[in-house]
Amino acid sequence: MSIRRLPSELVNRIAAGEVVERPASAVKELVENALDAGASAIAVRLSAGGLDLIEVTDDGSGMSPAEMRLALERHATSKLPDDRIEAVSSFGFRGEALPSIASVARLTLESRVRGEEGWRLVVDHGQAAGEEPASLPTGTRVRVEGLFDKVPARRKFLRSPRAEYAACLDAVRRLAMARSDVAFTLDHDGRKVVNVQASDTPGRVAALLDRELDRHGLGIDCTRDGLRLAGVTSLPTFNRGMADHQYLFVNNRPVKDRLLVGALRAAYRDLLARDRHPVAALFVEVPGDEVDINVHPAKTEVRFRDPAAVRGLIVGGLRAALDEAGHRSAAREQFAAAVNWQSDLDRRPGENPGHVAPLPAETGMAPAFAGVTEAKLDFGRTPAARAEPAVAPVPSFPLGVARGQVAATYIVAEAEDGLVIVDQHAAHERLVLERMRRASSGGTVARQALLMPEVVELDEPDCDRLEAAVGELGELGLEMERFGPSAMLVRATPAPLGKTDVRALLTDLAAELAELGTALSLRDRLDHVAATIACHGSVRAGRVLSVAEMNGLLREMEVTPHSGQCNHGRPTWVKLAHADIEKLFGRR
Ligand SMILES: Nc1ncnc2c1ncn2[C@@H]1O[C@H](COP(=O)(O)OP(=O)(O)O)[C@@H](O)[C@H]1O
Ligand SMILES: [Mg+2]
Repeated sequence: MSIRRLPSELVNRIAAGEVVERPASAVKELVENALDAGASAIAVRLSAGGLDLIEVTDDGSGMSPAEMRLALERHATSKLPDDRIEAVSSFGFRGEALPSIASVARLTLESRVRGEEGWRLVVDHGQAAGEEPASLPTGTRVRVEGLFDKVPARRKFLRSPRAEYAACLDAVRRLAMARSDVAFTLDHDGRKVVNVQASDTPGRVAALLDRELDRHGLGIDCTRDGLRLAGVTSLPTFNRGMADHQYLFVNNRPVKDRLLVGALRAAYRDLLARDRHPVAALFVEVPGDEVDINVHPAKTEVRFRDPAAVRGLIVGGLRAALDEAGHRSAAREQFAAAVNWQSDLDRRPGENPGHVAPLPAETGMAPAFAGVTEAKLDFGRTPAARAEPAVAPVPSFPLGVARGQVAATYIVAEAEDGLVIVDQHAAHERLVLERMRRASSGGTVARQALLMPEVVELDEPDCDRLEAAVGELGELGLEMERFGPSAMLVRATPAPLGKTDVRALLTDLAAELAELGTALSLRDRLDHVAATIACHGSVRAGRVLSVAEMNGLLREMEVTPHSGQCNHGRPTWVKLAHADIEKLFGRR
């Protein structure tokens, strides 16, 4: 065996494996370079998800021809003038990106320093392929063509152009959030998908993610032990079926760090169901010597010297803000006494008969609120449904007869053996799901045509997912078609839903489909999707019900399987036995 030093071309290709995993990583590296060069406007152009072409143009400092040649050499960087990695404030510093990309594609580098002539330099899969004068404004343009065309091993792992495009969009969004002072455009296959002017961070985040964040977001800014947390996070009621709109930054560097994601989740732990996720853009600032950014070639992971302090900052900071905003979102009722609220309609034979449903406060979730965007609890207003006077003997229904409604959210019923409280949204959601299941097992779910077809604008990747599932969704009674690149045209909705917010339904379905991917069987997918649909057809918390409607709901619950728990696994009703009421009042 003879040991040899590898030729630089091969070294670069090996490095490319780490630095350039897919088009989105090349986009990230090139945009970071543009930002490091002091650009005030950056234009990104892609074809076929970046597989055919990635072009990044900036108006930054530019490079001289000599610098351009050096930039394409491995470990050549202008960003570590004093060898101190800890003190680095630029995005790059490893000097790997350009040579790595150039080794797995055809790379054209054009650049011009102010007052000088422009220059063009072409490298084809690691081989110099000519240079010449070029005319361009001050700044730099990098064009990457045929990425991985000659690297079949890599090509195999690439996803569809659609999926690669979605990842590129995500990379651009992250950097555009980190640097809201820089203007960005992104063109994909000739269409402008991002176009943002310089602004402040909250404005930029809202422009890139969701205009609604203006209304449903909370500004965060807190400091603790020299660490700072700033940014925007959504109210618990403004959530998504997928954790894809969570953007995290450490010292303004976009990261995908498990510690930070975990802390974000922890902050919402008892405010959101497990399968719902907040929207957030959070910026953590720590002193340079408290964090190591050089633990990953793409620099998307970091290592903190004191992880617990960072976690504490995030959980504490978010909790404080969320608690303070509690009145804006879902107020949480605390159950004062640990009495036996029983929830046993679904109890199967052999299960512990003394089973006690976890108190909502203990299950760590706020019942009825998860997935409900418009729910606003108002315990202050006068009860709307008139109480049924409890004079006649109570008929023997397991869930009793409705006596009234509390907070337009809970039905209070009297049963022979106690007091029953029903979470109307959770319960109804379950009933709709069971109805849809019954209907779809006997063929397709009935549709209800909309009087006017509705156009719903969505992210392009979301539209792609919905479009791919049009057949399945049709079986569930949702009839729609693609309507241009970033909209769907909805013609009919599932009849069991009744009137529904079509836009919210589609957004959630798209997120659901993204999460499910194609891993599940059609049957299982249908079931998941049906659950998402059911959630939208439900009587919302906050809707005033008549006594007849309340009793109708109770009777349907009694005959519907699994109606004792909602689609998120929480109880739909609890019962306080007479004996327990007596205990509460010290009569026993
Ligand atoms: N868009 C650009 N504008 C000006 N200089 C650039 C640009 N892109 C790259 N460079 C120069 O090329 C060098 C090498 O870039 P790169 O391979 O990405 O490594 P790094 O960013 O880690 O330094 C940079 O340090 C910088 O001096
Ligand atoms: Mg770089």
